[in-house]
Amino acid sequence: MTAPTGGTTRAAPQPKASWTVLELLKWTTDHFAAKGIESARLDAECLLAHALGSERLRLYIDFEKPVLEAERAAFRELVRKRAGERIPVSQLLGAKEFWSLPLRVTGDVLTPRPETETLVQAALDALPAEDAGARVLEIGTGSGAVALAIAVERPQIVITATDISQEALKIAQENAETHGVSDRIRFLEGDLLDPVRGESFDLVVSNPPYVARRSQPGLPPELAHEPEVALFGGEEGFELLDRLIGGAREVLAPGGALWLEHGASQAAGVAERLAAAGFAPRPTRQDLAGIDRVTGGTLEVGG
Ligand SMILES: C[S@@+](CC[C@H](N)C(=O)[O-])C[C@H]1O[C@@H](n2cnc3c(N)ncnc32)[C@H](O)[C@@H]1O
Repeated sequence: MTAPTGGTTRAAPQPKASWTVLELLKWTTDHFAAKGIESARLDAECLLAHALGSERLRLYIDFEKPVLEAERAAFRELVRKRAGERIPVSQLLGAKEFWSLPLRVTGDVLTPRPETETLVQAALDALPAEDAGARVLEIGTGSGAVALAIAVERPQIVITATDISQEALKIAQENAETHGVSDRIRFLEGDLLDPVRGESFDLVVSNPPYVARRSQPGLPPELAHEPEVALFGGEEGFELLDRLIGGAREVLAPGGALWLEHGASQAAGVAERLAAAGFAPRPTRQDLAGIDRVTGGTLEVGG
C-alpha cells in the first residue's frame, strides 16, 4: 500500500502489500506527532477504530490483523483531515463522550470538554437529589452536554436550556432525544436571558464563550473548526460573563445560585463581578487538571 498520507512533509514509508493494525497505528502516531498533534496515539487509535467500524480497545486484540485496502482508504482520508486540516477528532467521528454520555457533535457546536464536568458537579451539588421542584436554567447549551448531564442525574428535574444558535439547538434536541430526556429539557433560542425574561429559577449555570479575542493568534488550529460564537467573549473574554452576571438576578429566585465556567486566569475577575452584582461568592472550583474553572455565587434572600 502507499503510505496513509495525511500531510505533505513526511516521507512516505516503502510501499507495502499489507499493513497490520499495529503498523498503521505506529506510522500514524509518528505522523501526527511530527505535525505537532499532542494526543497523537489516542487520535490515531480513535480514527482507525472509526475507519474499521470497531471499538478503540478492540484494536489491541486485533494488532496483528491486516487492514483491507478499502478500510485503509477510509483511514487515509481521516488522517489527512486530522493532520492536514486539523479537524478535531470529535468532528471527524461526529461524537464525543461527556459525563459518560455519548453525544453527537458537529461543527455547529462546541465539542464538550472534560473540564466542563466541573460545572455539572457544581450544579448537582446545588441541587439536592430529593428536590424535584428546583427550576434550572442553562445559558448557551451548545450540544446540550451540561443540561443533559444534569437531567440524567436528577431524573425529576425540568431544565430550560437556551442558545443563540439555532443549529446548536437542533443538535442539543437530538442529543436529548437520544438519551431519553427531551421531555424534561425545554430548549429556547435567543440572546442570553431574553428567552426567559419574567421567569424565575433556583439555579442558573453557564459555560459562556470566554476566550479573549486578543489571544486568537496563539490558539490551537483545531479551534478554527469550532463556532466562533461559542468561543470568544470579546477582547478580554469577559463580555458574556459580564452580561450574564449583570442580568442573572432578574431571573433568579431569592437564595438562587449562579455558577459559571471561565478561563484559567478569570476566577478572581468573576468572583469580583459576582460580589459587585450582589452575590455572595462561593469558592472557585478546580477542574481535574487543577485549573481554576468554575466560580459561583448565591443571591442573598432579600439581597
Ligand atoms: C462555550 S460554548 C458552551 C457549550 C456547552 N454548554 C458546553 O459546555 O459544551 C458557549 C455556547 O453559548 C452560545 N452563545 C454564545 N453567545 C450567546 C448569547 N449571546 N446568548 C445565548 N447563547 C450564546 C454558543 O452558541 C455556544 O453554544
